[in-house]
Amino acid sequence: MEQQILAYFEEHPDRYVSGEQLSDMLGCSRTAVWKHISSLRDQGYSFEAIPRKGYRLTGIPDRLKAAELLTGLTTKTMGKTIKLFDSVDSTQSIAHNLAEQGAAEGTLVLAEQQTAGRGRMGRSWHSPKSKGVWMSLILRPQIPIHFTPQLTLLVAVSLCRTIRKMEPIPVAIKWPNDLLIEGKKISGILLESSAEDERLKYVIAGIGISVNLREDDYPDELKDIGTSLRIASGKEWNRTELIKAFLEQFEMLYELYHAEGFEPIRAAWEALAISLGKPIRARTPKGSVEGIAESIDDMGALLVRQPDGNVMKLYSAEF
Ligand code: BTN
Repeated sequence: MEQQILAYFEEHPDRYVSGEQLSDMLGCSRTAVWKHISSLRDQGYSFEAIPRKGYRLTGIPDRLKAAELLTGLTTKTMGKTIKLFDSVDSTQSIAHNLAEQGAAEGTLVLAEQQTAGRGRMGRSWHSPKSKGVWMSLILRPQIPIHFTPQLTLLVAVSLCRTIRKMEPIPVAIKWPNDLLIEGKKISGILLESSAEDERLKYVIAGIGISVNLREDDYPDELKDIGTSLRIASGKEWNRTELIKAFLEQFEMLYELYHAEGFEPIRAAWEALAISLGKPIRARTPKGSVEGIAESIDDMGALLVRQPDGNVMKLYSAEF
């Protein structure tokens, strides 16, 4: 029935079609028509609804296409193989399977929607259809296992720089891996690695970017803490261009990291971070810590000077 509704709107472009006309055409109730329209809205279609006039189709969903992502992409490895899905539980699980089967470094798993998107600390990640970039990048870095936290910061720096280059919005990094705009989260990074006999086999860099979500795309519990590039900039973003620009920026910094180590990444991270020089109260797996966040060390840990003068290293925390 939804296909019939869409076909009808396509045959009558720019015209208002009343709920009654649609219900006569489909042989169903007005309530059923309303339910189909709201399901189409959930799939990314937009309609203008005017009392006594009816509905008008005003937008069709923006869909990612592998061919468009590959066109003009200047990277050597990152994103050269793209696995694009309509709906998956989590791009992380797919990327883990592919990596186990030997997928090359730089293989990118993307989905329009995740039904069980995963966040850090066992939380879920809100991934509505076609509104964001939900992706997992397979990496096979030549580094010791205990260096992997550095990669989280490398991903955060790459994404922050990419967004700033595309639009002058005040996006900044909150340690370790959140991207915020005016205190609200627009992106999260989840790094998962697999090792064998103390040797790093692969890393999956999971990246969620809330791109074109509107206020009403957020459930109530996220409305005050989450925002999107669209809300912050007042304009719709081209997800394809954003992904390509990110892959190019990431590859450049990843090569720099392999050539020169973590120091240039650490310096770039500090220049983009909002977490430094401020009093913080953090919840860690070992209890809460208070103090001033001073810097990050060469493993990517946050150094917090406590009121007694001692410096505490945080590898993972919430604040
Ligand atoms: C966080 O908690 O801030 C991390 C969120 C990471 C979300 C991304 S979306 C793509 C990838 N697939 C997932 O299931 N999670 C990551």
